[in-house]
Amino acid sequence: MSKIILTGDRPTGRLHIGHYVGSLRNRVELQNSGAYDKVFVMIADAQALTDNADNPEKVRQNIAQVALDYLSCGLDPEKSVIFIQSQVSELTELTFFYMNLVTVQRLQRNPTVKQEMILRGFSENEGEENQNKRGVPTGFFTYPISQAADITAFKATTVPVGEDQEPMIEQTREIVRKFNATYGPVLVEPEILLPGNAACLRLPGTDGKAKMSKSLGNCIYLSDSSEEVRAKVKGMFTDPNHLRVEDPGKVENNPVFTYLDAFCKPEHFEQFGDCFHGRKSSFDFHSLDEVKAQYRAGGLGDVMVKNFLAEVLDATLAPIRARRAELEKDIPYVFEVLRKGSDEARRVAAQTLAEVKQAMRINYFDEDVLASLIADFNGRK
Ligand code: TRP
Repeated sequence: MSKIILTGDRPTGRLHIGHYVGSLRNRVELQNSGAYDKVFVMIADAQALTDNADNPEKVRQNIAQVALDYLSCGLDPEKSVIFIQSQVSELTELTFFYMNLVTVQRLQRNPTVKQEMILRGFSENEGEENQNKRGVPTGFFTYPISQAADITAFKATTVPVGEDQEPMIEQTREIVRKFNATYGPVLVEPEILLPGNAACLRLPGTDGKAKMSKSLGNCIYLSDSSEEVRAKVKGMFTDPNHLRVEDPGKVENNPVFTYLDAFCKPEHFEQFGDCFHGRKSSFDFHSLDEVKAQYRAGGLGDVMVKNFLAEVLDATLAPIRARRAELEKDIPYVFEVLRKGSDEARRVAAQTLAEVKQAMRINYFDEDVLASLIADFNGRK
């Protein structure tokens, strides 16, 4: 069986370093590994609209931003099909058919939907509806079904995403099993592919909060300038009890160290070891474990560790930033990539939709089908 990747992001803002370590970096590696027959990367504008119906302009403006983030991180249109969800109308058709295979109760139990409803102030029942609680848009409530359509339309075997998407993939697998059992074996059950490194599963915000999120203002964006990155690192939350340099510090739940776990490579100690040479104290570290041990023991100040992190992040982001600057000079090219990708995605999704309709026996006008329908009718009369 061929190995196919499908993944995507909602275009509600520029992508940040949480997206990068959680999924984007992984995708580029998978794309380049040659181990996959096809890679589809989708800008999920229709899903973004499920909770932004009143703000389509935001979604619209961020299409190019997300595409730029993709291309500057190394997604290559020669190797990956990059496309826009709303331009593949077959996905909505599949969603409509899958809806019959999912109960309202099952959707209500989806942990990601539950959590996002609380986050967005959508009330769970009508009685609670008031000015603050907006009521759940049906499209939002059912988006796990639409996500199953996104994945199955391309017969994806592998979905590289962050940990928060696990319930979506589980729900997709259920829909696939239900569909295949009901109508015949057409759809493929996908597997989730999580980042290997625990720090990358969910990168905390710069304020130490569990998640990087635009609304919390705790993100470092892939498109941030070097100065912005440095300023954000400088202001990062660390161990609140590490008041004096001499004090022992905590590495656990200290976002500065979580970021280092996600980004630091052995060569960075050679390149940026100077950050640990100060007037009062000086260290020669060769690995992150040594830095952590010293921080735990005391004597290593946050400023040094942050200076090192700023260098590490900047080394990672500088080439991405440079590619973005080049691509920004040719936005027509970026949209051409999306147009071509969307055309190709539509061809593939149309094929799956045809198989789905055939399995459901709603392909009335396909060759021979009409004749047999007429014969059935006449035979029964
Ligand atoms: N729900 C994903 C997110 O919020 C975006 C998405 C939409 C997606 N459809 C998908 C991810 C299909 C993987 C596969 O980031």
